[in-house]
Amino acid sequence: MTAGSTQSTPQPWLQPDTQRRVICVARAHNNALLAEIRSAGWEVVVAKTAAGAEAATKKSGVAAGLIDFDGFTPRDFPTLKACLSQTAIGWVAIAAESQSASKAVRELIRNYCFDYITLPLPPGWISHTLGHARGMAALDYVDTAADIPLTDDSAMVGSCEAMQQLFSTIRKVANTNASVFISGQSGTGKELTALAIHRCSPRRKAPFVAINCGAIPHHLMQSELFGYERGAFTGADARRIGRIESANGGTLFLDEIGDMPPEAQAGLLRFLQEGKIERLGGNESIPVDIRIISATHVDLEAAICAGRFRADLFHRLCVLRVDEPPLSARGKDIEVLAHYVLQKYKTDSTHKIHGFTPSAIDAMHNYHWPGNVRELINRVRHALVMAEGRLLTPRDLDLESQRVGETATLDRIREQAERRAIETALLRHDYRLGETATALGISRVTLYRMMKTYGMRVATGATVDDTDTELDGETSI
Ligand SMILES: Nc1ncnc2c1ncn2[C@@H]1O[C@H](COP(=O)(O)OP(=O)(O)O)[C@@H](O)[C@H]1O
Ligand SMILES: [Mg+2]
Repeated sequence: MTAGSTQSTPQPWLQPDTQRRVICVARAHNNALLAEIRSAGWEVVVAKTAAGAEAATKKSGVAAGLIDFDGFTPRDFPTLKACLSQTAIGWVAIAAESQSASKAVRELIRNYCFDYITLPLPPGWISHTLGHARGMAALDYVDTAADIPLTDDSAMVGSCEAMQQLFSTIRKVANTNASVFISGQSGTGKELTALAIHRCSPRRKAPFVAINCGAIPHHLMQSELFGYERGAFTGADARRIGRIESANGGTLFLDEIGDMPPEAQAGLLRFLQEGKIERLGGNESIPVDIRIISATHVDLEAAICAGRFRADLFHRLCVLRVDEPPLSARGKDIEVLAHYVLQKYKTDSTHKIHGFTPSAIDAMHNYHWPGNVRELINRVRHALVMAEGRLLTPRDLDLESQRVGETATLDRIREQAERRAIETALLRHDYRLGETATALGISRVTLYRMMKTYGMRVATGATVDDTDTELDGETSI
């Protein structure tokens, strides 16, 4: 999944019976229900107060939670919210149908619980529901616990063919000392690739110095690269080491090399031929041992033809070439990256976000991503802040109006429109299937069948699958 790591991750959702501890939170417990949960093989931890619940959720191994909000007051809600937002626990709420829950309770249920049940339940149902909630929480857990270090900003996510090839190229070129030229559109990860090459190379303990040639005024480029001696020019009141010298022993990354002015190109070429630099205003030749990686998003060959870039310098810089694939060519990785970004920045959201709606995933796959990974990060972060539901929608991602790709068939367009209409209606009718079906002008059975076809969820937690055939016993909100 990442450039440096290839080992497989344990998959907790494939070991469903290892964790069967459930916390039951209620002011007044229903003993018959507790007995049923116990008899289904769950170890039950009981809490009667918000503080007790908080203490119990901190115990290790709690995989599922059942909460009855009846009797809790708004003063308890912040503590209960802290319990409900524990990512490792899958929560299910109990609510009496007759009683209309307060807005705050409805919000807690909608944002943090995988399911919502009303009592009495058919035999065996409660254990099944808790198991489902635990499974959904484990899926969430897997997203965060995958072998992608969320705290490492240099992690490179990708498992598609193009990225596997890129990782393999990175490992190969890292072992040599030859100059590497990285080409690719903006935001594809060129700088990340340069850093990965450095980190995989024998130079990893020495500095990695990056310089953006497009961001440095032309008249300062030479002194930035080579440094200067005191008195070299007006204002040079102390000696300054240049970037080349400061990267000694390590790697120098020249980003946007196409923007390098002609005099600096000549100076860099001289350095590449001789392996020595002279600080401006100095006459000492200083040997420097660096590995050069350069990158550009412009067509450097065209710049050479137009006389803006030296062909001899390009040949020195481009001994090995790495092509960064555009995001639109990374298939399933778009989804993987989107989940990665969601996990990384989910605390930016005021409530718990579990993922993307199927139509959001579709929209991301159909979009052409001119800004590549950088744009995807921005869109998901924006969506996390703006979203009101538990799943990010195309609207949250601002991809609602994006045009479907040229190759989309009418069937695909129809399918997407159907999905979107169903999702919107479900959201509008709080996932009540009967009302949603009426609003859409179809029968409940048809709605259920379509949701099943599109892999959509009954409530926000449970997926429609072959086991959910009991329409009247639905557990949706
Ligand atoms: N494969 C990837 N996995 C995770 N983050 C990525 C990946 N590729 C790019 N990024 C992130 O996208 C942003 C743009 O990457 P960057 O290397 O600056 O692109 P470029 O230099 O090509 O414009 C950065 O925040 C980077 O961390
Ligand atoms: Mg860059």
